This record gives sequence, structure tokens and C-alpha cells, in this order.
Amino acid sequence: MIKRPRILTGDRPTGKLHLGHYVGTLQNRVRLQAQYDCFFLVADFHMLTTRLDRELLTETKTNIHDVVLDNLSVGIDPNASVYVLQSFVPQIAEIALIFANLVTVPRLQRVPTLKDVMHDLEIEQPSVGLLNYPVLQAADILCVRADLVPVGKDQASHLEVTREIARRFNSLYGEGVLPEPETLIGDVPTLVGLDGQAKASKSLGNAIFLSDDAKTVEQKVRGMYTDPKRIRADIPGQVEGNPVFIYHDAFNDDLAEVADLKERYRQGNVGDVEVKRKLAAAINRFLEPIRQRRTELEAQPNIVAEVLAAGSERARSEAAETLRRMKEAMGLAYYG
Ligand code: TRP
Repeated sequence: MIKRPRILTGDRPTGKLHLGHYVGTLQNRVRLQAQYDCFFLVADFHMLTTRLDRELLTETKTNIHDVVLDNLSVGIDPNASVYVLQSFVPQIAEIALIFANLVTVPRLQRVPTLKDVMHDLEIEQPSVGLLNYPVLQAADILCVRADLVPVGKDQASHLEVTREIARRFNSLYGEGVLPEPETLIGDVPTLVGLDGQAKASKSLGNAIFLSDDAKTVEQKVRGMYTDPKRIRADIPGQVEGNPVFIYHDAFNDDLAEVADLKERYRQGNVGDVEVKRKLAAAINRFLEPIRQRRTELEAQPNIVAEVLAAGSERARSEAAETLRRMKEAMGLAYYG
């Protein structure tokens, strides 16, 4: 059997996923699992880099549950993709400890996401853990010797650190011990928020969650931002850049209906109520199979724990092998 290239990607468990995640990453993950050997990692230790109080950390458990259930519901099949909980794989921490010696502090200080996080969260001095974030991520990726890492544009600078670490390791201890993984930057579209802001996000409260019920979807769509100049149905409206039509394009499978609505909108021949009613119906059609799968999954109360236990076990054996090869190459394999 020809070995399929291996992919690892991951998320910090920040909570329920929404349509923006679907468009940006989940859709792609579902596609990739047919062709590649896929690992999907829930990066719970990465949460420590910005959230330290106990109350917030205990929420992580719910968030892990939600993120795994959302991934399962959209069709990331645990028989095709390996679900890994980072903290269940102690070798990741060990590998990260070795990697920390292969990269300098000023190099990590130049990683642009560090500055963004410090700015957004008003952190004056980064902890060693926060500075080390890309190093831990390198260990996530290299512990299973992944060839490819599909991520959004914002993660490109982290992947550069991963590649540098792999290169440095190999130049010190032996070419080919670690792969130098390629970044697969899909042209990851960003979904606008319901309120017209650049990005749908949980913290901005402008997103439709994959787990929202039909009524909630209707209500959220009714409140969507649309062309503000169109105070009456007979005023010609702007379709381009209009969130309501961006969502129609992304989620309405009835292309003839979308074309008709756009045409009439431009002419001032359709009310916002109809455009939105049809959008809510389309999003609910889209979400229905996801809801059904979720209902089936929820009938198995231990499903998330089981999927994570099985996948993490698989990752531990891969990571133990990686660590063995690393120590061997480094001359650290003292006693067999
Ligand atoms: N840093 C990634 C993010 O915030 C999450 C992540 C952790 C990750 N480990 C990873 C992504 C390994 C890809 C590969 O989105």
C-alpha cells in the first residue's frame, strides 16, 4: 500500500463553531480526509498561553466537547481522521522542550501573532509559555511527522517557525529525521459577520452557530445587516458586498433562486423580508444534515471521550516513535 501524505491541523478549544469556521476550514477538512492521512488536534495546552484563571480553564472541558462534536457533525469521520487531544500526548511536551533549544528568543519575539495577541489582550510582557506558542505548535505538527499543514493565513508565521526548527534539527542531527512540512494555505475565505463587520466571530456575537436551531437561524437572519440605503422595497439595492447576498452565495443551493433575488433586488423589485426568509430557509436546509448527525451523536453520551481516547492513543504511538528517532539522532538514547 502506498503511504498517503500526512496532514495535521488543529484548533484551540475556544467554543462552538459557526458558519465562518465551516467556510474557512471545516469544508476543506472534510474534503482532505478522503485523500490524506489526517490528524486533527485539539490544542488545550495552547489555551494556557492566554487564559490562566481556574474558572476559565474549567470551561475548556465544555469547549473541547463542543469543538469535537461540531467536527464530527459536519462529517469529519473518526474512522478516516484521527482526533487528538494535545494534553493526552505527553510526548508533545517533551518534543517541545527539545525544540525550545533550537530557536532563539528574538526570533520568537518577531512572530507577528505574538504582537497581535499582546496588543489585543493588553499583555505587557509575554510569559515564556506565550513566547513558546509556535514551538509547542511545531511539536504538535512534527510529533506525527506531518507532511502538510492546512491553516489560515494568520498561521503562516507559525509554520515558518516549525520549518526552521525541523531544518535546524536535521542540520544538527541528520537530514531527513524530521520532515519539513509544507503549509497548505487554502484560499481560506473569511465570512462576513451578520452585522456586516469583516468577520463572523463568537466574541463579536455576529455569527450563526452550526448548533443553532431553525428558529434561532430565522431570528438571526431577520436581524442581518443589509443595504442601509434601501429603506423601501422599491429602491434599487446593492448586491455586491451585501452580507445577505454573501450568505446566499455561500449557503443557498438553489442557484436559480439566488439569481432571481439578486436581479429583483437590483431593480427594487423585492422586499428584504423575502430575501431574508429565503436565506434563513437555505441556511436551515444546509444545517439540517449536520443537526441530524449531531442528534445521532448525542445519543452516544461518551462519543467525544471515546473518539479522543482512541485518536490520542494513536498519536502517542506515533509521537513515541518520533521521539525515539530524535533521541537516537541526537545521541540521547543512552540505555537502549
Ligand atoms: N495555533 C492554531 C490556531 O490558533 C491552533 C493550532 C495549535 C494548530 N496547534 C496546531 C494549527 C498545529 C495547526 C497545526 O489556529
